[in-house]
Amino acid sequence: MRFGFRDFAVAGALLATASHAQCPSYTTYSQTPHDPRSSGPLALPYMRPDPACRTFNSTAVEKVIEDLKARLKDPDLARLFENTFPNTLDTTVKYFNTTENLAFIITGDISAQWLRDTANQFAHYHSLLSVDPKLATLVKAVINNEARYVSEYPYCGAFQPPPESGLPPTHNDWADGVTVNPPVNNQTVFECKYELDSLCGFLKLSRSYYQATKDTSFMNANWHSAVDQIFRVINEQSQPTFDDDFNFISFYNWTGGGGALSPQVNNRGNNEPKAFTGMVGTHHRPSDDLSTFAFLTPANAMLSVELAHLADVLDDARQAKNVSRFARQWSRTIHDAILNSTILNNVFAYETNGFGGRYVMDDANVPSLLSLPYLGFLDKNNAAYVATRKLLLSNKNPYFSAGKTFRGIGGPHVDPWHPWPMSQISAIFGTDNDEEIVGSLYLIANNTNGLGLIHESQSIYNSTDYTRSWFAWANSYFAEMILDLADRKPGLILKENKSYKPGRG
Ligand SMILES: *[C@@H]1O[C@H](CO)[C@@H](O)[C@H](O)[C@H]1NC(C)=O
Ligand SMILES: *[C@@H]1O[C@H](CO)[C@@H](O)[C@H](O)[C@H]1NC(C)=O
Ligand SMILES: *[C@@H]1O[C@H](CO)[C@@H](O)[C@H](O)[C@H]1NC(C)=O
Ligand SMILES: *[C@@H]1O[C@H](CO)[C@@H](O)[C@H](O)[C@H]1NC(C)=O
Ligand SMILES: *[C@@H]1O[C@H](CO)[C@@H](O)[C@H](O)[C@H]1NC(C)=O
Ligand SMILES: *[C@@H]1O[C@H](CO)[C@@H](O)[C@H](O)[C@H]1NC(C)=O
Ligand SMILES: *[C@@H]1O[C@H](CO)[C@@H](O)[C@H](O)[C@H]1NC(C)=O
Ligand SMILES: *[C@@H]1O[C@H](CO)[C@@H](O)[C@H](O)[C@H]1NC(C)=O
Ligand SMILES: *[C@@H]1O[C@H](CO)[C@@H](O)[C@H](O)[C@H]1NC(C)=O
Repeated sequence: MRFGFRDFAVAGALLATASHAQCPSYTTYSQTPHDPRSSGPLALPYMRPDPACRTFNSTAVEKVIEDLKARLKDPDLARLFENTFPNTLDTTVKYFNTTENLAFIITGDISAQWLRDTANQFAHYHSLLSVDPKLATLVKAVINNEARYVSEYPYCGAFQPPPESGLPPTHNDWADGVTVNPPVNNQTVFECKYELDSLCGFLKLSRSYYQATKDTSFMNANWHSAVDQIFRVINEQSQPTFDDDFNFISFYNWTGGGGALSPQVNNRGNNEPKAFTGMVGTHHRPSDDLSTFAFLTPANAMLSVELAHLADVLDDARQAKNVSRFARQWSRTIHDAILNSTILNNVFAYETNGFGGRYVMDDANVPSLLSLPYLGFLDKNNAAYVATRKLLLSNKNPYFSAGKTFRGIGGPHVDPWHPWPMSQISAIFGTDNDEEIVGSLYLIANNTNGLGLIHESQSIYNSTDYTRSWFAWANSYFAEMILDLADRKPGLILKENKSYKPGRG
């Protein structure tokens, strides 16, 4: 390379800023189909933005797209992969500066960075970090930006651009009239809903970066401070609502004002009481909706998995022995508590309160019960998972619904008759049954409203009624699933029955 690595990245940041003004908003762009169409029966449009409007370029990513276009049997699936795999880099890198080691990644149609979304928006690139140093530097900058957020506001999940970027903060109508304790600054925080899995997302992104690169330089003071804050939250939120003397314990509470969240959160913003189980409570779900009961099983499952990874990474890097010991202990406690207190008649509850209260349901947003194998918590053949999955994909789950052309699991974030394609992706990750996999795959492919991107939800009554044309996480999750199948079940989707692994030539 003629230019030094740093020069290249700085030039990229300048171009991204320059193109920002001239390029069409991708929210608009993603609502109409663009030519050329794929040659399959679905005739799916080409939805990548003009090269000049892309927010980050990666040759490794382009290579994977070319590889899969040549290998996939179905040209419609190839087009979906081509549109979705690069979507995060094409559209969501709002700011990146290597010198500052900062990057700001938006969720898609909302100009804010969610910890959970970001981790998922990059999950399908992990195997490329070892072959594309520029992409690795971007992920490191994302981790550093998030480490600053988490060390200051560990209870919040969505954030404003770093001040160094010069980007203006976005006003959040849904945060108007909200009182949150501990209080937050709206120049840094976009929304302070406490969602346990946000912290898991930060941990997952960190350890994936390390696993791919073995580079320890992301473990700076910011990062260690963020990890300490995560343990503070774990300690605080695993405590029961009352101590032995009936002192009321509240470390976080959220009260909504005009239209912010209805109904208002009961018990002065604390929601339903909880007893000690060994799990860690949350206040909102991965959907940003209010929890019914505090102990969200799938978020705890993800936490248990990510704490074990954290311990491995710290030990491997010979850092913070005290933290790694603590992480391993908590991982085991949470794991045991899930098995001890959430399963009844072989079925996992989505939420529990430690008093015997349990809510049997699932929500499409990951972490979900359906995604427990994807999260790495258990094997897809685990008896309780198999039984739970069967229930969740039936009318025994209040948020499952089915129509003539689409079915799946949704959630109260939209409503019960708008299931999410994301739930069908989780379903694929959780089975080895070819027929089920192909069924789910074409439910998704058939339901993009002819737009060739993965949407948030799809009505079961009306095939043209969907939500969110630009939802980067869903696009990434779809592409990650195609790569999983290309490795695990190549004969199902590839011309040749031979495993494909990205980043391996
Ligand atoms: C990156 O950050 C450095 C240090 O703040 C600054 O000097 C440089 O201008 C920034 N580059 C871009 C492209 O913003
Ligand atoms: C990506 O590459 C195109 C040329 O193919 C260029 O116009 C664009 O500015 C690049 N984007 C960034 C962020 O470097
Ligand atoms: C921050 O809060 C102040 C006071 O409520 C409000 O006037 C301002 O619009 C908010 N800023 C953003 C970016 O939301
Ligand atoms: C709300 O949380 C704060 C800590 O952030 C705590 O001091 C306060 O007592 C709590 N209030 C209620 C009503 O729970
Ligand atoms: C681990 O030890 C360091 C250095 O003594 C300390 O700053 C940090 O808070 C400890 N972390 C935990 C989780 O106990
Ligand atoms: C699980 O339940 C058993 C029996 O009730 C109890 O002895 C054990 O301490 C529990 N473990 C956890 C982690 O809650
Ligand atoms: C997808 O659409 C095709 C063509 O309309 C149809 O044959 C197929 O049954 C559909 N698949 C699913 C799972 O809905
Ligand atoms: C179906 O949904 C579209 C988009 O929301 C709407 O314009 C149309 O009126 C709906 N059709 C019916 C029959 O409700
Ligand atoms: C692909 O090969 C595997 C074993 O090598 C076999 O089990 C599977 O049935 C084959 N799939 C197809 C679609 O031929």
